[in-house]
Amino acid sequence: MKSVTSVSNVSSESRIASDDAQSFAAQETFTRLSNAAASAKLETPCYLMDHAAFHRNGRILKHVQEETGAKILLAQKAFACFNLYPTLRNYLAGTTASGIHEARLGAEEFGGEVHVFSPAYTPKEMTDLIKIADHIVFNSLSQWNRYREEVLAAERPVSAGLRINPEYAESVAEIYNPCAFGSRFGVLAKDLTEDDLLGIDGLHFHTLCEQGSDALERTLEHVIAKFGTHLERMKWLNFGGGHLITTAGYDVPRLIRVIREVQARFPHLQIYLEPGEAISTGTGVLVGSVIDLVTNGIDIAVLDVSATAHMPDVLEMPYRPDVENGGTPGEKAHSYRLGAPTCLSGDVIGDYSFDKPLEIGDQIVFQDMSHYTMVKNTTFNGVRLPSIAILQEDGQIEMVREFGYADYKMRLG
Ligand SMILES: Cc1ncc(COP(=O)(O)O)c(C=O)c1O
Repeated sequence: MKSVTSVSNVSSESRIASDDAQSFAAQETFTRLSNAAASAKLETPCYLMDHAAFHRNGRILKHVQEETGAKILLAQKAFACFNLYPTLRNYLAGTTASGIHEARLGAEEFGGEVHVFSPAYTPKEMTDLIKIADHIVFNSLSQWNRYREEVLAAERPVSAGLRINPEYAESVAEIYNPCAFGSRFGVLAKDLTEDDLLGIDGLHFHTLCEQGSDALERTLEHVIAKFGTHLERMKWLNFGGGHLITTAGYDVPRLIRVIREVQARFPHLQIYLEPGEAISTGTGVLVGSVIDLVTNGIDIAVLDVSATAHMPDVLEMPYRPDVENGGTPGEKAHSYRLGAPTCLSGDVIGDYSFDKPLEIGDQIVFQDMSHYTMVKNTTFNGVRLPSIAILQEDGQIEMVREFGYADYKMRLG
């Protein structure tokens, strides 16, 4: 879910003029955070986010909405640091959730529209969801048929949607491919009839992963070819997430054109996008410290941060996060493998090089760590959860959450 620093499969035609500015801005943010962490002698491990960077991403997302009338939601599965919701609320229409807990957080802390999609809802969850969700998206016809009456009879209006599987996803790692053979996600066009859609207001697809608007455009051709007749009768269409709208190289004018083309063809449709990464990329770092140095054929630094516990996409995707002032092995004078303080042999973040030899106590700053980190953390081995801090616009670091033994214990029985 997080591995790229710029969008690769993007045409150069009408590319957003501020590509370089966007890439520079993200790097500048990471450097500013790194310097702030060093001068504050920040206790590690700690996620440090830059409040101003959320305004920067927000402005791009607001521009897309103002140009098209599409609505953009925050996918909380990627980022749910609710201290920043009042800021994001200025730029986004609401939140999307993967279930009742995220939906509640969106309703309580963000406001705006509350959307939810889950591969399957339990009866208890549905009872709670219809009290707070504006859109509930079903993954299968059996789930829809099970809850249809309850949703249609809800005391407050709930707009029901159905996730479709357009059987088209481009160059997505298998673990993130919802259109792979045997995928549990979405209803196939061949299995859908008009009768199934009685009471359904909208269709939802999510097939992109860190991709450009060119991939979206090609995906929409498949969506429309397979589901176009159904779209004639819908009120909305949700393009899901995976749009790297705020990353250098993303073709924003093309996104605007693509949305307008769908609107020209289906003028009655409200378009939604629900990115997660695009909202929080380029905004934060994970600051760790060297706690030991060992040698075994290579030099190894043991840190107080863990790939599996604090940045699991490093192992799941897998990818190698960038480190502030860190090069590839051999590029700079002193190379190290950066490893974690857990028992897992493979809990290694990657191999890097530095201008100066590392010393115990040195801070190591991993870039672009706001999304798919805090929301996925574990306390495997009882490792400490990184605290959460925000560099405010007045230059002060505000510590918004610190974790300790109680947080470990309370999740066990
Ligand atoms: C249904 C759905 N919507 C939105 C998202 C957010 O995707 P991203 O953070 O890549 O934009 C995801 C991610 O898995 C998703 O599954």
